[in-house]
Amino acid sequence: MSYRIAWLPGDGVGIEVLEAARLVLDAVGFDAEYIDGDIGWSYWCSEGDALPIRTIELLHEVDAAMFGAITSKPVKEAEKELSDDLKGTGLVYRSPIVRMRQLFDLFICLRPCKAYPGNPLNLRNGVDIVVFRENTEDLYAGVEFSPVPEMLSEQLATLSKPFAAFKNLKGDEYAISCKINTRGGSERIIRAAFEFAQRHGRKKVTVVHKANVVRATDGMFLEIAREVHKSFPKIEMDDANIDAMTMWLLKNPLNYDVLVAPNLYGDVISDLSAQLVGGLGFGCSGNIGSKLGVFEPSHGSAPKYAGLYKVNPIATILSTKLMLEWLGETEKAAQIEAATAQVIQEGRVRTYDMGGNAKTLEMANAIAGKI
Ligand code: IPM
Ligand code: MG
Repeated sequence: MSYRIAWLPGDGVGIEVLEAARLVLDAVGFDAEYIDGDIGWSYWCSEGDALPIRTIELLHEVDAAMFGAITSKPVKEAEKELSDDLKGTGLVYRSPIVRMRQLFDLFICLRPCKAYPGNPLNLRNGVDIVVFRENTEDLYAGVEFSPVPEMLSEQLATLSKPFAAFKNLKGDEYAISCKINTRGGSERIIRAAFEFAQRHGRKKVTVVHKANVVRATDGMFLEIAREVHKSFPKIEMDDANIDAMTMWLLKNPLNYDVLVAPNLYGDVISDLSAQLVGGLGFGCSGNIGSKLGVFEPSHGSAPKYAGLYKVNPIATILSTKLMLEWLGETEKAAQIEAATAQVIQEGRVRTYDMGGNAKTLEMANAIAGKI
């Protein structure tokens, strides 16, 4: 079967790592038509949209997408880089990857972090953690106020006692970002984590939250997790506050198996978990919904390395493995992972982060050569 794959390099090192990924996909004989999509910082500057509508339309027509990386800047800096005719027109920059996740309801952010034997960057051998990060809501909901409208202040003053501390502030003296978590959104990511654990013979799911302070949303998340756990009696469940979790993960990473968290905590622990197994050069990820999967390295566009063909493509190569798995091409996926593991183990080809001087495409060719 031939697949249709949207090919979205983006900008910065995104272009290089996707080129590397393609060498490996071709080596494994993945039968696909790759369709290039426009996405990235230059489209923000020239068209006022880093994720143009034509690219959204493309995503509706494909089986899956590979995404590289995109430069993201805070709202005010982004506004400054717009072309002159677009300045002052009220355009607001929003991260295209966050938009793709929300537009296509890619509610699972899957981030496996495995310490491949022989990787000189492993903080501890044997780590094998899989992060399930909720990917569409929470503090990423995009419901934010700066300045805060008077109407909202008045309402909050009547609805919330603790709000009294803020009620005498003028609208531009504070800002509000809403953490919005739904029951449905929480339940489906927690269920996905338990189902994964069950399917892959994993022992434990750890729920990450801050329910002692953020009681409404995280309290609900934890309560739903306890409910969902009842349908998976063979799998152990425990939970930890996000702050403690960052300590435990560093101290005893071998105690963890599958982690599940609301969006922002998931963002934090997935970088931390990636660092345990070699850093962002090894952090692969899948943004998965019921119809579409968008696969990407979890590192950013690393502007200072752009064009140097220096960065480690393994994060992206392992993301192609996640894509093939999701498409049901499990044998090819396994071949990619085995080849990657072999190159890491042999240690002859290493990128700069691993202490070597192999370039991006040399690493990709070494992996492709093992297939
Ligand atoms: C990630 C990244 C993104 C996020 C950024 C680039 C918007 O950090 O995929 O983890 O915050 O989700
Ligand atoms: Mg992140």
